[in-house]
Amino acid sequence: MAKTVVGPMEFLPETLQSLSSPGLLLVSRDGRGRPNAMTIGWGSIGIYWGLPIFIVPVRRSRYTYRCIEKTEDFTVNVLPRRLADVAAFCGTVSGRDHDKFKDADLTAAPSLRVKSPIVEECVLHYECRLVHKNDLNPKTLPGGIRRSAYRRPDYHRFFFGEILAVRAEPNLRRRI
Ligand SMILES: Cc1cc2nc3c(=O)[nH]c(=O)nc-3n(C[C@H](O)[C@H](O)[C@H](O)COP(=O)(O)O)c2cc1C
Repeated sequence: MAKTVVGPMEFLPETLQSLSSPGLLLVSRDGRGRPNAMTIGWGSIGIYWGLPIFIVPVRRSRYTYRCIEKTEDFTVNVLPRRLADVAAFCGTVSGRDHDKFKDADLTAAPSLRVKSPIVEECVLHYECRLVHKNDLNPKTLPGGIRRSAYRRPDYHRFFFGEILAVRAEPNLRRRI
């Protein structure tokens, strides 16, 4: 069924539920324009500077980190339930040495407003343009969180993306 343009906050509960399990697909492009998908289990949607913003936390070690730094946009994609395994795959191998779109049989389709593509097989897509970034400061974290989330000093950079377009499948609530 054709996807339709929806408001940035229209499917907030569904997006947050998928974020916690199985995770969302964060798609960016590398310097050669090759798309790459990585799984995120953390993130948030809100309003900053009067704009709808998707914040994605990406550790320095990820290939995605370099991709977003270089190309300054990304998409966030919600998987249908039948493809939940794809989140585990895209969350364990790196785009440095894998073409994850090819290996997971995913289709990179054009976005409406950004250069990073959407994942056609997903049911909801957020298209985001990088407007700000912030590095996590481990000194201000409670020790318990620091010890459990950062055994190595591989800290997150928070990328703030202005949500420029959102598209959804009409029957998405039945598919996630
Ligand atoms: C369920 C799940 C959630 C994840 N959440 C995050 C996250 O929020 N931020 C992050 O940097 N890595 C997260 N990861 C790890 C990355 O997805 C993983 O390291 C991935 O292989 C990085 O891909 P890349 O090197 O192609 O960017 C998560 C992995 C899984 C399985």
